Order: sequence, then structure tokens, then C-alpha cells
Amino acid sequence: MNAKDQGLAQRIEEVQHYYGATLNDKEDLATNVCTVDEPPSEAIKAILKKIHPEVQMRFYGCGAPFPPLLDGTTVLDLGCGGGRDCFILSNLVGEHGHVIGVDATAEQIEFAQRHIEYHREAFGYDRSNVQFLQGRIEALEQLNLAPESIDVIVSNCVINLSMAKSDVLKGMASLLKQGGEIYFSDIFADRRLAQELRDDQQIVGECIGDALYYEDFIRLARAAGFLDVRVVSSSLKAINNPEIEARLGGAKLYSMTLRLFKLALEDGCEDYGQAAVYQGNLPGAPDRFVLDQGHVFDAGRVVPICRNSADMLSGSRYRGLFEVIGEGRRHYGVFACGAEQVSSPGMAGASMAAQVPSNCGC
Ligand SMILES: C[S@@+](CC[C@H](N)C(=O)[O-])C[C@H]1O[C@@H](n2cnc3c(N)ncnc32)[C@H](O)[C@@H]1O
Repeated sequence: MNAKDQGLAQRIEEVQHYYGATLNDKEDLATNVCTVDEPPSEAIKAILKKIHPEVQMRFYGCGAPFPPLLDGTTVLDLGCGGGRDCFILSNLVGEHGHVIGVDATAEQIEFAQRHIEYHREAFGYDRSNVQFLQGRIEALEQLNLAPESIDVIVSNCVINLSMAKSDVLKGMASLLKQGGEIYFSDIFADRRLAQELRDDQQIVGECIGDALYYEDFIRLARAAGFLDVRVVSSSLKAINNPEIEARLGGAKLYSMTLRLFKLALEDGCEDYGQAAVYQGNLPGAPDRFVLDQGHVFDAGRVVPICRNSADMLSGSRYRGLFEVIGEGRRHYGVFACGAEQVSSPGMAGASMAAQVPSNCGC
């Protein structure tokens, strides 16, 4: 085994120990990082009432990776833990959809599997639509899932734990269908963190030590073919542990939800004279559709958009929600981002992405 593989194997073992033995439930967490600060949406709140209380207690996520329009889709959850998000997704995809949860820790997978039947009954399904597989997110090809078979890949506070984030991205790219979406919540840092933090089992286990420096993540995503990463939400994370906070040396952590599409996009916003009109037909969202922090579409309003945004809206499962105007044959130069920005109270906030815009910096 070479040094890199040895390092990866050791990290997996440490993570398995942290999530399989050190933590029994969320009360054992040493910081506030693997927790969610925002209240759930009304739709998720209603589903949460049906989730088993022990599954809730084993939830260590930092966001809400539940994109809209999931009915009938196949969703893969990377680092599914005790299965809380998979069971929520089980309800969102409906009985004809399919949810696959992957986690490296045997105790987590066994725990999730023990709760499949409870949720099948709670949702009134004849057959469960969820399955849990033990595996590493850096080696998704070993799961025997068909290439280009997944509509949506989600993940909640996991990719930060991986020492081979580029392998994770490459695996996702190969499993996603054309036009498919990665929609994930994770912890990002505003700088590269010191090696001593990355070597500390507890600090890594708490989703801090190997948190992704946002700009490095953009670089990795581009190398894996995801040229335009969109920020859905971003908020400063309180750590709630003065000792660990002191060791961060002033670095700030953010909980962010990002979306990436498997589409042939460009690495910047170009103007092809296009515009989009949201039809107001997303169930539960008659007034507006949020693509990301800089792209909020009021129903019925004609909004000029760059070619990447046009491709996201017309080349993904969201295509039935929009009328995209313009064939995009003629180039008019760099897209003036301000033109498509619709200000939305509460969307700007203390956002790292707002301070350091990348890709489509709108
Ligand atoms: C912070 S917990 C989040 C779990 C789950 N997403 C949730 O929201 O409750 C991180 C999970 O990722 C899993 N994990 C960490 N590194 C992994 C890897 N390289 N491959 C697969 N799973 C991994 C751990 O076993 C643990 O269950």
C-alpha cells in the first residue's frame, strides 16, 4: 500500500470509530458543527413527524439537502449515517422512486437497515423504496450501481471527512444521469486549515479538521467536470466549544448547500441573449423558484439569464418549470450578472460565497 492509500485507510478507520463507537447520538457531539441551525421547511416538518425518534437522534447533518421535484427519481445519499435523510427522501421520491444510502460505518448501516420497515409502514408503502449499502464514497464504482443511473446525489456533512474529495466528485460524475444534479450540504472553511487540525481525529470527526476550503472545492469540482457551482445557502457556523475554536486560529466555518449539474457548462457567465420565465408550477412554490442565492425567479417575470443558467433550467429535471426564451445561438459578450439578480430578503446574509464569488458570481 502506498502512503496515500495508507492515509486514506487510516482516515476511514478513524471515521468509522468516531461514528460507530464514540458517538451514540447527537448529544455526544463535542461541537455544534454537525447540527442544523435553520428550521426545516413546512413540508419537511410534516415528514419529520413520521421519522423514528431514534433515527432523529442519530442525525449529524449540517443542512437540508432536499431539492425540489423529486417524485419518481432515484436519489443517492453519500454518507447516509443512521438514515434520517434517506427516510425523508423516501417520502419525497414517492413509492415509485428509489433511495440508496451509502456509508462506510457498519454500525450506521445496520442501524439504518433496522428502521426500514418502520418507515415503510409510516409512509404507507407496499414495498420499501430505500436500501442501505456499506461502502466508501471515494470508491463508488465498487457499489455495482449502473453508470449514469442516478437522478440526484445528496449528502449531508460528509464530504468534508474525505481525504480524497476529488475521487468522490469523479465517482458522482460517473453515476449521475446527464442533466442530473448534485445537491449537498457541507462544512466549508474560509481558508486552508493547519495540518495539525487535519490530523486530529476528534476535530476531523466533528466535521472541522478537513473542512473544504471553498475555493479549493471549486477547483476540484471544475477538474471533475462541474464548471459552474451554485450556492443555494450559506451561513456562518457557531462552534460552541471554546477550546476547539481557539485552535482554529481565526478560520471561519460555513454550512453551505451547493448544487452542481452534470451538463456541458462553461466556467463563466456568457450572454447569449436568453431569458427565463418561471411558470409557477412547482408544487408548494407558486410565487418563486430559487435556483441559487443569486438566481431567484418570481413567477411570470421575464428574467435575463446567462447561458449556463439557461442550460440548467432547460437541461435538467426543472425543464418543465420554465419557459426559456432565446435559442442561444448568438453571443453578446460577458453576461452582466446584475441583470438577472433579484434581491431577496434573507438570502444575502453573512455568506462566504457572497464575499468570494466564484463561477457565476451573480
Ligand atoms: C457527520 S455524519 C453525517 C451522517 C448523515 N449524513 C446525517 O446527516 O446524519 C458523517 C457520516 O459519514 C460517514 N462517512 C465518513 N467518511 C466516509 C467515507 N469516506 N465513505 C463513506 N461514509 C463516510 C460516517 O460514517 C458518518 O456516518
